Amino acid sequence: MPTALIVLAAGKGTRMDSNLPKVLHRLAGAPLLWHALRAGAALEPDRTVVVVGHGAEAVTAAAREAVPEAAVVDQGTPRGTAHAVLAAAPALAGFSGDAVVLYGDTPFLSDETLQALKAARARADVVVLGFEAGDPAGYGRLLMDGERLLRIVEEKDADPAERAIRLCNSGVLCAEAGLLLDLAGAVGSDNAAGEFYLTDIVAIARARGLEATVIRCPEEETLGINTRAELAAAETAFQRRARAAAIAQGVQLPGPETVFFAFDTAVGGGATVEPFVVFGPGVTVETGATVRSFSHLEGCHVSRGATVGPFARLRPGAELAEEVHIGNFVEIKNALVGEGAKINHLSYVGDASVGAASNIGAGTITCNYDGVFKHRPEIGAGAFIGSATMLVAPVRLGDGAMTGSGSVITEDVPAGALAISRARQVTKPGLAARLMDRLRAARARRG
Ligand code: UD1
Ligand code: CA
Repeated sequence: MPTALIVLAAGKGTRMDSNLPKVLHRLAGAPLLWHALRAGAALEPDRTVVVVGHGAEAVTAAAREAVPEAAVVDQGTPRGTAHAVLAAAPALAGFSGDAVVLYGDTPFLSDETLQALKAARARADVVVLGFEAGDPAGYGRLLMDGERLLRIVEEKDADPAERAIRLCNSGVLCAEAGLLLDLAGAVGSDNAAGEFYLTDIVAIARARGLEATVIRCPEEETLGINTRAELAAAETAFQRRARAAAIAQGVQLPGPETVFFAFDTAVGGGATVEPFVVFGPGVTVETGATVRSFSHLEGCHVSRGATVGPFARLRPGAELAEEVHIGNFVEIKNALVGEGAKINHLSYVGDASVGAASNIGAGTITCNYDGVFKHRPEIGAGAFIGSATMLVAPVRLGDGAMTGSGSVITEDVPAGALAISRARQVTKPGLAARLMDRLRAARARRG
């Protein structure tokens, strides 16, 4: 049966206390919406429809970045989750199959749960994903008769007995697409919030003689984020799982609670990540590499056997080949560092290439930005760059080239050549001592 995914992402998220649309708040380096779309991708949907409203432009851009072929529809002013589903109707024209509704603020659904949801459609017309809540406050409650779902009541509309129910609505549901739209169209807004509740489709379906049922999943999968506190709790939950997954995969992680992963961090088994390392998006670390403490990595690749840090910063486009050594207080951005090259101390290498087995001395800086243009310094293989060399790009250094410490290199250095560019040293015998005597005498006169 073909599947359409409808992801609701129009809500304002007033309780986030922020101008940013709720679904664009970041979890593990990616907008909440991405997590929801990634979860939904497990269903291999034939169509994906994202319903936007509040902050439509930015939310559309985020949706398209994650799923380029997604249809994005604008709900206009959000008037409730049923109203949002109806907004998806034009994008579902000509589709026949099941529709699965996900919320953009619910990032942790597992593949197994979504598969189970679809499979349960064999037993009922409407399948709702429920969970036993530790604290059900704020959630819709599921009113059951055995395995039959009778209706869903929102917290605001629930009486005390209904509020005592712990089985809650995750928001995720599945029904045949045409039926879903039909039921959503029949929903009214006569409730405490004055909204069109998607949850009302259950009672409407029952009144039409249709069947609804519930499948259950662990609460942590359905965490819906409405507040910053919930976002922080979700981050904690994500990190706990990412650390456990890394350890299970054979990554050596001696201080797991201090290492922070992004949604897409890939660390090979047999790699070591020391305490207090932070990964931004887009990082791959191969097996046998070591990332030492207090390093920050994003958008970069660390090959087998390379070491990074402590206190290193790898920015987007940093590509380290095998056995590269990046030491303390080194920043690498958009640069290819060849096999076995060493950049061990206090350097900035940006928009550059460094050949294999080169040694970049302490305090070397690629001066690649003239205020308007970025230029690209290129360093050949086996080069030896003296400490505190300034490489003023565009500049090329050939294989085996050397620079003297403290040089400011503004011209190309051919292969095998040594370039020194600094003032010649002048030494004045005894002058330091005489100068100090004079200064001390001046201080004595002042008292
Ligand atoms: C909703 C459910 C509730 C469930 C809870 C689970 C309804 C009426 N209530 O409540 O039963 O327990 O989720 O987290 O469905 N959205 C739109 N357009 C709108 C309104 C909302 O796109 O007009 C989107 C929001 O961006 C959000 C999602 O739908 O991603 C859920 O909306 P939200 O306002 O957070 O619903 P809850 O009050 O949490
Ligand atoms: Ca919510």
